[in-house]
Amino acid sequence: MHYSVMLNEVIESLNLKSDGIIVDATLGYGGHSSRILERIKSGHLFAFDQDIEAIEFSQKRLECLGTNFTIIKSNFLYMKEELLKRDIQKVSGIVFDLGVSSPQLDNKERGFSYLHDARLDMRMDKDGSISAYDVVNTYSESDLYRIIRDYGEEKYAKNIARNIVHAREKKNIETTFELVDIVKHSMPYKETIEKNPARRTFQAIRIEVNHELDILDASIRNALSMLEVNGRIAVITFHSLEDRIVKKIFKEVTNVDKVARSLPVVPDAYLPKFKTIIDTAPTNEELLENNRSRSARLHVIERIREDNNEKES
Ligand SMILES: C[S@@+](CC[C@H](N)C(=O)[O-])C[C@H]1O[C@@H](n2cnc3c(N)ncnc32)[C@H](O)[C@@H]1O
Repeated sequence: MHYSVMLNEVIESLNLKSDGIIVDATLGYGGHSSRILERIKSGHLFAFDQDIEAIEFSQKRLECLGTNFTIIKSNFLYMKEELLKRDIQKVSGIVFDLGVSSPQLDNKERGFSYLHDARLDMRMDKDGSISAYDVVNTYSESDLYRIIRDYGEEKYAKNIARNIVHAREKKNIETTFELVDIVKHSMPYKETIEKNPARRTFQAIRIEVNHELDILDASIRNALSMLEVNGRIAVITFHSLEDRIVKKIFKEVTNVDKVARSLPVVPDAYLPKFKTIIDTAPTNEELLENNRSRSARLHVIERIREDNNEKES
């Protein structure tokens, strides 16, 4: 089962009203969505996920709580168009709980985990165009190096990329354990007795397969444009690069527009459209309960003004 990170903090910070129109961008196993549904008796929940297994599970879980929800199998990058198709122009709350769920990691067949031997896959969306197998067997050495270094923050990225390319010259790399073995042989022995020497490489390849960082900026900006005044957005990040993208956008929209900062009086059009509600990390109690929440950060902002172009139209 999936442990929903910072569940209470998210639910409290969204300031849910009974008639709220709320979006869960990352339904997963329905932890956040269930708690939201309990609070919005006369509202509606729109929940997105790209993983059919998560959707099938959560459909049943949410049906026990009500009928006022719609699950949409789509990448959250398309949230705005999917909502507009359903005639929803504005929403009162949005939550993003980024990354993968525990069942995705733990289910051997999904090929995400360095702990289970399986065919390399790592696609959250089983219809996704590239899998971990494709990344490992077709990307150039320099691309592998960049991905493992940047997305995995792995100091042995150069050796790992080189050894992947050497290994696949003999035969394609088919399984998670073959990749673990290559990673282990790319670093000094003392590093391989660390708990999970392949953790960072697997994380990097997963991020590449699912375009997790490429789509984040556009997805968050799209979501912000759907929020009504007083509406709130909560984003939980798990990776420093992910966190940097969210913090940069939130800083930009909660500050006075750059153009107007030096003016003696800031015209209304340049005033910030959002204000910060909270920026926080899991409590010590939560860290003790769930080690996977150790890198989590929660950022919540609230819309306080409409966008200029919306006022004019
Ligand atoms: C951390 S889990 C969410 C767990 C959920 N909040 C809960 O309490 O059960 C992230 C989920 O988001 C989905 N996901 C990640 N990126 C996505 C994207 N770009 N579009 C749609 N779903 C995505 C994953 O498939 C996964 O099920």
